[in-house]
Amino acid sequence: MVLETRAYSWQWKLMKLCRFMAALLVALLAPWLHAQWAPLVSDANAEKRIEWWREARLGLFFHWGLYSIPARGEWVQWNEQIPRTEYARLMLEFHPEHFNAEKWAHVAKDAGMKYAVLTSRHHDGFALFDDPAGDLTAMKSAAHHDFVADYVKAVREAGLGVGLYYSPLDWRYPGFFFPGLYLDSALALREQYGRQISELSTHYGKLDILWFDGGGNEWLGFGGVNFNGHWQARPLGQPYTGKFDWQDDQIVGSLRNKQPNILINDRTNAAADFRSREGDGALGEFDNGTPWELCTTIVEGAWGYEKGSKVKPLARLLQILVGAVGRDGNFLLNVGPRPDGEIDPGQVERLQEIGAWLRQNGESIYATRGGPWLPGDYGVSTHKGKTVYLHVLKVPANRIVELPKLPARIIRMTSMDGTFVSYLEHDDKLSITVPGSIGDAIDMIVKIDLAEQWNTNAVVAVE
Ligand code: GLC
Repeated sequence: MVLETRAYSWQWKLMKLCRFMAALLVALLAPWLHAQWAPLVSDANAEKRIEWWREARLGLFFHWGLYSIPARGEWVQWNEQIPRTEYARLMLEFHPEHFNAEKWAHVAKDAGMKYAVLTSRHHDGFALFDDPAGDLTAMKSAAHHDFVADYVKAVREAGLGVGLYYSPLDWRYPGFFFPGLYLDSALALREQYGRQISELSTHYGKLDILWFDGGGNEWLGFGGVNFNGHWQARPLGQPYTGKFDWQDDQIVGSLRNKQPNILINDRTNAAADFRSREGDGALGEFDNGTPWELCTTIVEGAWGYEKGSKVKPLARLLQILVGAVGRDGNFLLNVGPRPDGEIDPGQVERLQEIGAWLRQNGESIYATRGGPWLPGDYGVSTHKGKTVYLHVLKVPANRIVELPKLPARIIRMTSMDGTFVSYLEHDDKLSITVPGSIGDAIDMIVKIDLAEQWNTNAVVAVE
């Protein structure tokens, strides 16, 4: 008996250790796994379809809706547990006198953005478009207007890619939180999701991006796993396995039928064209195998309008922009227009500064790919054809950046204004002297002309 107890306790300890190791692994992998709910598309046209988007590199995100009125961010209803009927009364106050879609499109274009994404409906359930069967829509608000129609037209006319954000999740439906217990509610939520995606894909002409959020199984039914009043994702390794199914394949499938070239992100269960990373801290690893995009806010704070929120410094925004592109990703920068439809002047000003920077340095961003050098202490690199752009984000005290030599013949190095940059190749190293004349810049770009076109798949590790 004693022996058996010993054996049992030994196995038990091992099992505990295994559990601990598994939990540790999950914790370590969490940030990476977070974005891995949806598979990626693998059809023959996938690469062709996303080419324009990869070249575009930059987009402007708009979070705008009823939540802009209380001006405490787009999660105000959930955070403050505002009852549905009380929240819906904001519809009476929604009459944005200064909404001007052409102005928004102009702001985006002037900032050097090549596409835009507007929250057609966020988690609160308020649709900025016409959904005759829905009761919480802009058409039924004091404005009696379809803002998505104006937006799509203006963005298209400005020559930018047209994107819409859509949240299958709607806080008004208890079936989202407890799909088993409130199955009828969950089914009604799914009916709304299918119907609204059909409205959006049928009545607004060609759409380029459908940017989903709150769909799939990441949050679905989390109330049944761990309901303590706090919002949280499902624990990793515990996917929803109940009776409810979003039927993403049908809904996203019919969206793709109507809009064959549309690009979708990875926040439903359906196969995605690109992955999405979120927040300043999520720049993450270099990845030139999977198309991806980093989104973040222009202000310190929420995505939707918040009174008095501070605009992030230009240097920080540019470092994130360059950091994303140098990791071979796109950058989607968010503004939260005011309830009257105006974008805060402080945010517009920052966007203009970004635009001015891009007018000077855009050739090192647009239509480039990340690499050849992987990101490192020095900064990042991008390339296009026979040209490599070294983005020095941190200049060493002696102004000499040391990198591994490229397996390619260098013809010349210059700064973006054509100033000669000196360099030395020795053994397997390449030493570049960053000229003092560009010493104050946020991103010191050295343009390196090669004798031959650089192969995107070849990357060079940096210590
Ligand atoms: C987060 C926020 C949500 C926002 C989204 C944009 O999920 O909670 O409000 O719309 O990020 O990526």
